[in-house]
This record gives sequence, structure tokens and C-alpha cells, in this order.
Amino acid sequence: MHNLRYAIINKRILLGVCGGIAAYKSAELVRLLRKQHCQVRVIMTRAAQQFLTPLTFQALSGNPVHTELFDAEQEQAMGHIHLARWADILLIAPASANTLAKMAHGLADDLLSTLYLAADCPVWVAPAMNQAMWHKPVTQDNLARLRRHGVRVIGPATGEQACGEQGFGRMSEPEQICGQLLAPPTQPVLQGRKLMISAGPTREPLDPVRFISNRSSGKMGYALAEAAIRAGADVTLISGPVNLSAPATAKLIKVETALQMYEAVIGHIADCDIYIGAAAVADYRPTQVEARKIKKQHEHGMIALEKNPDIIAVVAGLPDKPFVVGFAAETDDLENYATGKLRNKNLDMIAANWVGQGEGGFDSDRNALQVYWPGGKKNLAMTDKQQLAAQLLNLIAERLNEKNPAQNP
Ligand code: PMT
Repeated sequence: MHNLRYAIINKRILLGVCGGIAAYKSAELVRLLRKQHCQVRVIMTRAAQQFLTPLTFQALSGNPVHTELFDAEQEQAMGHIHLARWADILLIAPASANTLAKMAHGLADDLLSTLYLAADCPVWVAPAMNQAMWHKPVTQDNLARLRRHGVRVIGPATGEQACGEQGFGRMSEPEQICGQLLAPPTQPVLQGRKLMISAGPTREPLDPVRFISNRSSGKMGYALAEAAIRAGADVTLISGPVNLSAPATAKLIKVETALQMYEAVIGHIADCDIYIGAAAVADYRPTQVEARKIKKQHEHGMIALEKNPDIIAVVAGLPDKPFVVGFAAETDDLENYATGKLRNKNLDMIAANWVGQGEGGFDSDRNALQVYWPGGKKNLAMTDKQQLAAQLLNLIAERLNEKNPAQNP
């Protein structure tokens, strides 16, 4: 972790580690949490001990590791009820499908599941499992049940799995878990506000197998959706094709092309207080979409393109327009291009980021923004996208309240 700056440090974190190859990432998680001056106590399930030894976590956390529900020595020192009362946060990472199932149904047959039942602090889980196990309806039902009971879920991410399969189920990266866990408590600055956020890339088909797209992963837009929900907003997320799980309470509308995104945005924008265009929308689409796969025939090829609607400019031109925030992704002359888009698209604010060079921008967990509005600007320094999203939303709430004081909820 580079320069993570959290408002809240010195937390007492009870970290439950379940069996899974992702347990090795939890060792790094302990290190990051301690760097934030958190006290960490680790509980390992029996399966977790097949992957790492308690000694590893003892060395990293500086505390004895708890493994047994009934342990005469540990009961004296810190029994399960004591442990549960000690914690400010119970974090289970990796959380296996088995432990999630036990939590969802109130089973308490080992130390970790018993601690969950005994805990009265906030509980977070970072699931990790094979992609088929993740998609199994019973796992999803268990998670939905846990969410209803107030358990907060981080990830999982998608990608190559230890078993060689591809898909959802990789535990989120330790830095991302740390970022979400220790994010400053979000003030309800958007309580009662209706927000629409566009996220991810669009895909413009050429034929049934090919499309034109870009490198957006959706991480920035999804982080904004999560932070807006934490700030009290009612969120509609219009998402291009990404490999991320949307916040459970967001209204998610999935699209592929810029035209579909345009229709989804315009179809749901009525009554929105704020529109944030974080999506990387293709400016052009192929004029013609071939019904069959295009064959390799000539040495050179040409693709005729036509312009897509500028979604954000249309939103900003609506008679009853919301507060409109654009993003500008630039490889050069960031300020000039961004402020040009602010003016030409008639936006209320624009968040500009460098792309295609160094840290931040596309597909990174971190980013930095230069934010401009008519008559003002602010730099938001490089940090993880969750923190950055919360900072940008605070700025939006301030500007919105200045602009429409009468409409403060
Ligand atoms: O998704 P990540 O991997 O996390 O990366 C985040 C990001 C770099 C994609 C994000 O931070 C970002 O910059 N998003 C906007 C990217 C972009 O398309 O910028 P632009 O300068 O081309 O467009 C300017 C604004 O107009 C944007 O708000 C865009 O959503 C909007 N637009 C553009 C074209 C179009 N046809 N319709 C639009 O609404």
C-alpha cells in the first residue's frame, strides 16, 4: 500500500481466515491493517491451517492465533465471548462457501462460526471460492440472506483462479479490502438523493464476433455507486460489460453498446438529482454491423464509423436537468481538454484523469482526479478508487447544495 490515508485507524480487528489458497493474501492483509495501527487477532478454521500455519499469522499480528472453540488455555486468556466483545470489526477473509453457509443458517460448530453468532460489531466478508461454487444459487441465496442481516460483502473479483478456471470467486486484493474496511465513515451527504451513474466500457459490434471497445474496467463507476449508497443515495447503475459485482442495493441496468446506454440513461433519468458519467462511451460505432463474420480478403481494410449520441451532453441539455458530472480521460493536456468538455457539454462538474500512462486511470485499483467546475477546481490525490469516490461525492454534495440550497433534502 502506498499512501493510504484513512480517517479511522487503531481499530481492533478480528480476522477470520477460512480454508482456501487466498489465505496467503490474508497474511498481507494483516500487514496492511497493522500499518494502519490496527490491532489484529486472527482466528483460523481447521481448513485454513491446511494452507498456512498459525505461526505465520502470530508473527504478523503479534498476537496468539485462535483455532479451537474449546481450548482450556485460550478460554482462560481470551475465550470466544471475550474475543467477540474485544472486536470493533469482524472480518472474514477469505470467507469460504462453507463458512458463509454456516453463518447464513446460524450454525456454530467451530470457533469462527460461533464468534459470528456472538459478535455484535459490524461484520465484513471477502468471499473466495471456485467460480462454479460462487454462482451456485444456494451460495447466492446465503449471501443475500447475510446481506439482509447486515453483513457487508467485499468482492469477489474475477480472473484466473488457482484451479485454472476463469471467473468470479477470487478474493479481492488486500489493499481493496483494507480501503473498504477502514474508509472514513461516510456522512449521509446524499441522503434522499437519486443518483444515476454510468460505468464501464461500451462495445460497438462489427460482426457477430468482433467489437470496438476500450480498457475501462468499471472499477471507478462501481466504486462511486458503492460510495453513493453509503452516503445515503438511491443509486441506478447503468453498466457496460464488466467483471464486477454491483452493490446489492443499486438498481443495475446492464448494456453493451453506446446506443443501449443512451436509451437506458434517458429512459431512467427522470427524477434523478445527479448524473455521473464515469463510463467510457465509444464516440463512434461501425456504420454497418455485418450479419456474418467478416472474412480476411484484402491487404488493407476500412471501417466506416458514425457518431454515437453524446449521452452526457443530452442529459445536460434536458429542460429539468440533474446536476451533471462528467469524467475526462486524457493522455495529454488534461486541464485544457477537461475544461473544454465542461464548457462544451454544459456540465456542472468534470473529474479529469490521466490514462495510458503510469498509475491510475483504466483498470487500476487506484486513481487521482483533477476536478473542475465553473469558477473552481480541486485536486484529489492518488488513492484507491473507493476513497476517491467518497471524496468526489463529498465535493458533488457541496456544489449541489451551494447551487440548489432550497432543495437540500
Ligand atoms: O473503468 P475504470 O477502469 O475504473 O477506469 C475509469 C475511467 C478512466 C474509465 C473513468 O475514470 C473515466 O475517465 N471515465 C470517462 C472516460 C471517457 O470516456 O472520457 P471522455 O473524455 O471520452 O468523455 C467525457 C465524458 O463524456 C464522460 O463523462 C463520458 O461518460 C461522456 N460521454 C462520452 C461520449 C459519449 N458518446 N457519451 C458520453 O456520455
